[in-house]
Amino acid sequence: MTYQLPNRPRRLRSSNAIRALVEETRLTIDDFVLPVFVTEETKPSEISSMPGVFCWPVSGLGDQLRNWREMGIRAFALFPKIDPQKKDDQGSEILNRNALVYRASKSIKDLNLDILLIADLALDPYTNHGHDGVLNADGTVDNDRTVEILADTAVVCANAGFDWVAPSDMMDGRVGAIRKALDDSSFCNTGIISYSAKFASSYYGPFRSAINSSLDGKTLDKKTYQLCPSNFREAKRELVLDFEEGADVLMVKPAEPYLDVIRYASQNIDLPIAAYQVSGEYSRIMAADKLGWLNWENCALESLVGIKRAGADLIFSYFADRLAKRL
Ligand code: PBG
Repeated sequence: MTYQLPNRPRRLRSSNAIRALVEETRLTIDDFVLPVFVTEETKPSEISSMPGVFCWPVSGLGDQLRNWREMGIRAFALFPKIDPQKKDDQGSEILNRNALVYRASKSIKDLNLDILLIADLALDPYTNHGHDGVLNADGTVDNDRTVEILADTAVVCANAGFDWVAPSDMMDGRVGAIRKALDDSSFCNTGIISYSAKFASSYYGPFRSAINSSLDGKTLDKKTYQLCPSNFREAKRELVLDFEEGADVLMVKPAEPYLDVIRYASQNIDLPIAAYQVSGEYSRIMAADKLGWLNWENCALESLVGIKRAGADLIFSYFADRLAKRL
């Protein structure tokens, strides 16, 4: 017996060919920015809590970037792992023109790979206390002094060949100050991708141990500047402020726990919206795969397509190179 159904949605799912035709969201390699860790050490080392992700010495970076470029990846965000001896309470190494990331970007630029190079703009890799800013005598983070350093650093980044800077610190007013500093130095074409709605997340742990940005990455408390995970209205306000201050791209971070914020941003703000699938989002999938409980490739793709479906135009993901073949 056959029901006389007016609708049989399953017809649209009945073959690979049909499913491909009606697929609403499709990831492509062009959606991705690959975060890259750079180290002063001489050999690449795998990050223990992020299997498959390495810290690269400047000397091996060129060849590695060529490989990634051949896979189709064209955008890279560099994160330095700074020698503890170069850290101080002011993070002064960030303004040293010969510091690790600046040497890295100069060596990459010389290769003419036709890529986008993004500098993460924040003090935490450089401060011995691990905060994204300089501290007042009472231990609180000094917003305005930090913004001044970030604005000066943006110019150092542009001089070193970075195409975009990505302030990831969540200080008030930094996007406007960075824009002004860049323009005053004639870097009007250097873009700002702003970590606008960045939440005080527990998913940053593996990143912090990767760059050694705190002695105990799990408990470093950034709640006086990063957003409270439950606050949607406050996230909207941060997005709007960075739009008004002149950011070129707005970012929501982490990604999967904040799909509502990504959706809001993509529907209400006329700028490209980036999402950052952070280290802990990577590690939890890899860990479950290791235990034999999940398949990392399929889960990574499902997570990423969900992030894109929510409205992300571009996605920072540690999976980008590992999934390149499946995109
Ligand atoms: C800090 C910064 C962090 C990340 C990128 N930039 C960590 C933090 O805020 O403590 C996290 C990225 C990740 O977890 O993958 N400026």
